[in-house]
Amino acid sequence: MSISTATNIAGVPLASYVCNASGPKCTSYEELAELGRSKSSAIVMKTCTILPRKGNPEPRLAHVGKNRLLQSMGLPNLGYEKYIGFSKKLKKYGKPVIASIAGFTLDEYDALAHAFQKSDAALIEINASCPNIKGKSQIGYDFGQMRDLLSLACDRGGKPVGLKLPPYFDPVHWDIMSELILEYNISFISCINSIGNTLVIDPWKRSTVIKPKKGLGGLSGETIKPIALANVQAFYERLMGQVSIFGVGGIMNGIDAFEFLLAGADAVQVGTSLELEGAGCFGHLDAGLRTMMEYHHFSSIAEAKGKLSYL
Ligand code: SIN
Repeated sequence: MSISTATNIAGVPLASYVCNASGPKCTSYEELAELGRSKSSAIVMKTCTILPRKGNPEPRLAHVGKNRLLQSMGLPNLGYEKYIGFSKKLKKYGKPVIASIAGFTLDEYDALAHAFQKSDAALIEINASCPNIKGKSQIGYDFGQMRDLLSLACDRGGKPVGLKLPPYFDPVHWDIMSELILEYNISFISCINSIGNTLVIDPWKRSTVIKPKKGLGGLSGETIKPIALANVQAFYERLMGQVSIFGVGGIMNGIDAFEFLLAGADAVQVGTSLELEGAGCFGHLDAGLRTMMEYHHFSSIAEAKGKLSYL
């Protein structure tokens, strides 16, 4: 049986279902070039800000359990101008480059969105959910500010614009966010970001495991998969195929990727797997997904997408 995992996000073709998430190992040009050489179907760049940032004090990333990370990186990045240049240089790898942007004010979001409209990035992901900046709340939890942000992002050029969302835990929040996404013609969403402001304690040292924000950080990896799946399913139902969905959260093997496909994701992004396993993870995940598709007699992503049955 011939199986294709080719897919698309907002009409931009991806050669396979799995690419990296904006997070680990995508900040420097060398890291991005490694993604270019890997089997990641896109090159998603680290969330950038107007000015370069060193990020939060170290230690700011801890391995907590076998397949989990706690991090509070604080958006270390080289500043947006560098990533505009990288988007051009990375074109030689023949796969879409995805920019990720975050502002400290709505004007900064606006400036970044417009700057990347003129870049070689194929898609622009607005990070509305970084939990790790001290004193700054996640904009994705403030629906009033989200409306203001979307009305700016709406006034844009021709490149598809998407939102990286925080996890929501209540159907009312899925309803409100979906209405905003449809009203402002957002082309894709990436859900979910890490679960923000979680605490891991080392009981032997009687200490937190990371330094920033009194040890609070974003939790990622296998523990968050059920939350990510629920968010994908909720948005898939509400957005009715009008908006592409990147599933993100706890995808450690091909079976996990297949679960996101059943829940309605058009593609998946991986962060923790990339951090733990390196760039070889993309090939393993794609092979595992193909095995699951073959087992269920699906030959394409379109055939399998959203085919979750309910008891
Ligand atoms: C970080 O750099 O703190 C992580 C980015 C994010 O969670 O959006």
